[in-house]
Amino acid sequence: MTLLLDVHLTDRDADAALRADALAGLTATPKHLPPKWFYDARGSELFERITEQPEYYPTRTERALLDRSAPEIAAVSGADVLVELGSGSSAKTRLLLDAFTSSAHPGGGLRWYVPQDVSESALRQAMDTLGPEYPGLRLRGVVGDFTRHLDRLPGGRHTPLADGHRRMVAFLGGTIGNLLPAERDRFLTGLRAVLEPGEQLLLGTGLVVDPALLVPAYDDGAGVTAEFNRNVLRVLNRELGADFDVDAFAHVALWDPEQEWIEMRLRAERAMTVHLDGLDLTVEFAAGEELRTEVSAKFRPERLGALLAGAGFALTRMWTDPDGRHALSLATAA
Ligand code: AVJ
Repeated sequence: MTLLLDVHLTDRDADAALRADALAGLTATPKHLPPKWFYDARGSELFERITEQPEYYPTRTERALLDRSAPEIAAVSGADVLVELGSGSSAKTRLLLDAFTSSAHPGGGLRWYVPQDVSESALRQAMDTLGPEYPGLRLRGVVGDFTRHLDRLPGGRHTPLADGHRRMVAFLGGTIGNLLPAERDRFLTGLRAVLEPGEQLLLGTGLVVDPALLVPAYDDGAGVTAEFNRNVLRVLNRELGADFDVDAFAHVALWDPEQEWIEMRLRAERAMTVHLDGLDLTVEFAAGEELRTEVSAKFRPERLGALLAGAGFALTRMWTDPDGRHALSLATAA
């Protein structure tokens, strides 16, 4: 089978973006790095292992919720193109594909599946396995960064897909929570701008729950999240010729009740001078200094409608799990 793959993000683009992010974040006060740089091959594997930890409930909660609500989502949506942003291993995608391609679905359903991810290898793998499982479905992968390449999503005015007229863009996993508020607004507004009125967004969001449940999800007993967190330093060591002593940084996860997000940080356990040869940069860490590596915002269901409306989406329907830990919101471009 031939794979249709649009590559908008080359290794050189990614390298330039990493350099810019590292330079800006490591020279700022307080220091920070964007979470997208966790996900090299090792980081992606560590993330998959996080989702198997007993404390990390979000993935299995969303999967169960999707499992129960996918037929309704398909029926309400009626989309013939499913775009998935940050599709990764496409692990939960089958639940949607099954519902959207089911004969029970009015109109017979889905024509195209368009997975988008920064990782070309993850995309190829997902498309290789999904292709043969859904023989009637056409696949078109997009290698890109959803914060930068939304205008290149196939199926829009300038890049029509044969027989694909109505897209539903799925953004699952609570990944929108990893964007800072300004990035989140830019993302939602940018997505709305590339959609035609009537096209849809399926947004997965973690909900605000008891911090006693939330914090351990980001600080599992087996230390997998801690390794995942430190992995960003290994990425800098390899890609930017840095000399971070990775094991001298401690994993920190805390709940910020004002912002309503989990913050992950790396705390320097002693004073350190770090050289990043590739950037010609020297960075000082004081003993105890913390570097923010991720926020993971949680949302309140009663506010999701306003969040979406602010970007030009009308909330059609929301599904939540029985414990109120996760939501799937279906919204229509107004
Ligand atoms: C990528 C959004 C699913 O924020 O929960 C997991 C990433 N970080 N543990 C999240 C993550 C630490 C994760 N998502």
